[in-house]
Amino acid sequence: MDSFRINKILGLVLGIALFLQTIHLVDAMFLPAKVAKPSSEAAAVKEEQPPAADAQAFDSLLASGSAERGAQVAKQCQICHNVEEGKGPKIGPDLYGVVDRPVASEPGFNYTAALKAKGGKWTFAALNKWLIDPRADVRGTSMTFAGLPREKQRADVIAYLVTLSKNPVPLPKVAGTGQAQ
Ligand code: HEC
Repeated sequence: MDSFRINKILGLVLGIALFLQTIHLVDAMFLPAKVAKPSSEAAAVKEEQPPAADAQAFDSLLASGSAERGAQVAKQCQICHNVEEGKGPKIGPDLYGVVDRPVASEPGFNYTAALKAKGGKWTFAALNKWLIDPRADVRGTSMTFAGLPREKQRADVIAYLVTLSKNPVPLPKVAGTGQAQ
């Protein structure tokens, strides 16, 4: 009689075990494979660009800028600009003496209202910002030049623009030991 009850209980336990096992199998059959976790690369936010013009870093780059290399790069400017004294405007104003010159001040050139509204002088920092992308710097300018995204090229071009003068503005000194490579 006791063994009969034990059998009953064992049977029940086995039954439950079998039932659970079956559920587990069905589960495995019908549930989709674990959803792949989104890769951390995809989720990572695109790395921020460094600030376009870090004035101090650019100064030291300018200090070691090469007017010779700049003259090469500036050949493309001469499609639109004269670089000699008294040559007057082409598509753009004469760039002779442009460093430290008040913005939009060449007599005989018809500047856009946008550039006239800029104000100030063509300091190194102003030229640097302008040459990255003129149309981003001054919305509505007629200087349809894509810009020089490479900082080193801009430093070289500005070092060259400095030479277009009887009294060249001195380039900044290299600060301390922070010589630009
Ligand atoms: C496609 C023609 C074109 C090219 C190429 C071009 N420029 Fe210009 N640039 C212009 C025009 C047009 C203006 C006048 C913009 C205005 O009035 O809005 C101008 C204005 C300027 C000014 C302002 C001058 C002032 O008197 O205020 C500077 C500085 C300048 N350009 C530098 C450069 C340099 C440096 C390059 C080469 C890296 C260059 N430009 C290439 C057409 C050009």
